[in-house]
Amino acid sequence: MNSPLIIALDHASLNEALSLVESLDPQRCRLKVGKELFTREGPAVLKALQARNFEVFLDLKFHDIPNTVAAAIHAAADQGVWMVNVHASGGRRMMEAAREVLVKHGLNTKLIAVTVLTSMMGEDLEAIGINVSPQEQVRRLALLAQRSGMDGIVCSAQEAAMLKVCCGADFLKVTPGIRPQFSQPDDQRRIMTPAQAIANGSTHLVIGRPVTQAPSPGEALQAIEAELAG
Ligand code: C5P
Repeated sequence: MNSPLIIALDHASLNEALSLVESLDPQRCRLKVGKELFTREGPAVLKALQARNFEVFLDLKFHDIPNTVAAAIHAAADQGVWMVNVHASGGRRMMEAAREVLVKHGLNTKLIAVTVLTSMMGEDLEAIGINVSPQEQVRRLALLAQRSGMDGIVCSAQEAAMLKVCCGADFLKVTPGIRPQFSQPDDQRRIMTPAQAIANGSTHLVIGRPVTQAPSPGEALQAIEAELAG
């Protein structure tokens, strides 16, 4: 499966998520399960989506002591999750422990890191003792993530070009804040179209509402593919 598209299932229940998933094709997109759906419904979500042949990005952004994060990563990978993530600010030993547990058990789940949450502005970083710009902090954490054995990072499409220079084209850049030409910005502020994001170096695009809230999610997905092909 080599589509860059990951559809965000930001639903409150498995039933709601499944009714959307029925109109999607596992050969043409992957699915992202986040904190709300997973906290409400648990691993049954993973089983239900995998039974429909979808690859799942479990977006739980683990951040804890190395031993605990490694155990959580092992649990996710054991359940056949395609991609999982941690916070790079958990530090080098935490990320290395996450990588080591996958190597030790021969699991090939993709392991990526979140750098700086896009909700954090310069003043928010300053308040937690980080006196560099968000962009510089993203660059530092991306390099740390790469040196600590991560397969890639979550980043905005705006950052993807800079990260391609410092971390290379193969380092995964998983990018939310994507709005196809046909859609509304919703609450996203700095948006890019799918084609712009790929041109900027994003390797995977996380897309939620433009597909999940579309009158026909299948047609929305097709329109995004057409934009990318165009
Ligand atoms: O509906 P929309 O396309 O805005 O959804 C984007 C998805 O990506 C949501 O699951 C959101 O939580 C996630 N996300 C984001 N911005 C980030 C990190 C994650 O929009 N910086």
